[in-house]
Amino acid sequence: MSNQNKIQIETCFSPALYSTYEDKNSIVVIIDILRATSAICTAFHYGVDKIIPVASVDEALEYKKQGYLAGAERDAFKLEGFDFGNSPYDYMGENIKNKTIVLTTTNGTQAIYAAKDSYKVVIGSFLNLDVLCEWLSKQNRNILLLCSGWKNKFNLEDSLFAGAVTTKLLQYNQKYELGDGCLAMNYLYQMAEKDPMKFLNRASHKERLVKMNLKKDIRYCLMPNTSPVIPVLEGKYLVKMMF
Ligand code: MLT
Repeated sequence: MSNQNKIQIETCFSPALYSTYEDKNSIVVIIDILRATSAICTAFHYGVDKIIPVASVDEALEYKKQGYLAGAERDAFKLEGFDFGNSPYDYMGENIKNKTIVLTTTNGTQAIYAAKDSYKVVIGSFLNLDVLCEWLSKQNRNILLLCSGWKNKFNLEDSLFAGAVTTKLLQYNQKYELGDGCLAMNYLYQMAEKDPMKFLNRASHKERLVKMNLKKDIRYCLMPNTSPVIPVLEGKYLVKMMF
């Protein structure tokens, strides 16, 4: 538990490192900018009721057989037989309104699964940056920024967002004690802030998505504050936080 004066913020750059950073009393912010956490924020903004994030395709299939709408992505491709992939644009339709949907992705839902037993798990993306940071700034709790990365490797876009959150929180006040990961990402964000798209130019997952003609998704995922909602994990469900 954090003390009254000093709240620690740290960045964990891969779900594989989570056990090293784990503190069951922390708030964990799950980050998968391209594209899972951006898709999740979008879905809540467009009226989905609940999302059941699952780690494996088999689990998603089980739910699908029970009649749930389900999204499944591996290696950035939508899997055959599922209703949605992992593009935020898949989660803007009337068909998701007031529904419970199931989602499995290559990295994002794995990170959610890894952190599920912590004090609170919330979803972060550029799309909900300000509302998330404002809420975080009011919690007297340590914060762990958990980057989903790519198959347990570091990635630039999630780290950049960790820097954005760190920078914003420091603007609210200076009560935070930054771990080295956050210190580094704070500097990184200062370099990238003016033009994140350009900064990410050679980032591996950006290149992967560009090859798949998904530049539109990348642009969307970097647009700040277009889905001002905070998805939060309650049991097995992600729901929209009520203020
Ligand atoms: C994931 O969760 O692995 C990513 O969001 C991959 C993707 O871009 O679909």
